[in-house]
Amino acid sequence: MARRRQIYEGKAKVLFEGPEPGTLVQYFKDDTSALNNQKHGIITGKGVLNNRISEYLMVRLQEIGVPTHFMRRLNMREQLVREVEIIPVEIAVRNVAAGSLVQRFGLAEGTPMPRSVVEYYYKNSELSNPLVSEEHITAFGWAAIGEIDEMLNLSLRINDFLSGLFLGIGIRLVDFRVEYGRLYHDSGDIQIVLADELSPDNCRLWDMQTNEKMDKDRFRHDLGKVEEAYQEVARRLGILPENGPRELKPPIISP
Ligand code: TMP
Repeated sequence: MARRRQIYEGKAKVLFEGPEPGTLVQYFKDDTSALNNQKHGIITGKGVLNNRISEYLMVRLQEIGVPTHFMRRLNMREQLVREVEIIPVEIAVRNVAAGSLVQRFGLAEGTPMPRSVVEYYYKNSELSNPLVSEEHITAFGWAAIGEIDEMLNLSLRINDFLSGLFLGIGIRLVDFRVEYGRLYHDSGDIQIVLADELSPDNCRLWDMQTNEKMDKDRFRHDLGKVEEAYQEVARRLGILPENGPRELKPPIISP
């Protein structure tokens, strides 16, 4: 098999050149990191589960007209995505106080927000992804005002839709953080599309009945049963790999 050119390797994913121009292959690893990269670990089977979960959620979002980079899943750990120019701004939407919001404002974890709170972060791991304002984004040229509006509107739609979707399977969508890219069409149009992934790595998901955490916080805070939590999210979504946990073996990356 021809060797594929690796474009980028991040903490949890690898991007390879895709089979056609304008496409990339996104490979999901089991590796994970937290606390600004100070904590590393392996969550066995996470890559397989996140590949499925992200596929499922992106397809559901596309069905309601949210544009995403997702094209199709290729195999257990890889999906074909459109090549986009990543906007270096991460957008967080919060429905319930948790994580850095709790630390910043001294709120009790679990406090419902009076309305969904949106935050912007500069995507720069060397600077630990600092919280920024719209002013920073436009002044430093990371995105134009119209692009910020588009990302904000899409993020609120994503929040509404996913909150309902998860509610239906007994899960509270506490918060999430997403990123967007510019898709350059042949016509010259530039479209803002959801990029990266949607999974328990970048969403906080709590069981509605018990408030048990079903996301990466289990790794961040050494709560144990990390793999089981990701599996349970996939199970409730009805998308556990056909052959069950046997397929959740460690990755073999073949660049
Ligand atoms: P935070 O409370 O730590 O700011 O996290 C908010 C949400 O963003 C939470 O669902 C986890 C997710 N997140 C990322 O996707 N990437 C990150 O680098 C961090 C720090 C959080």
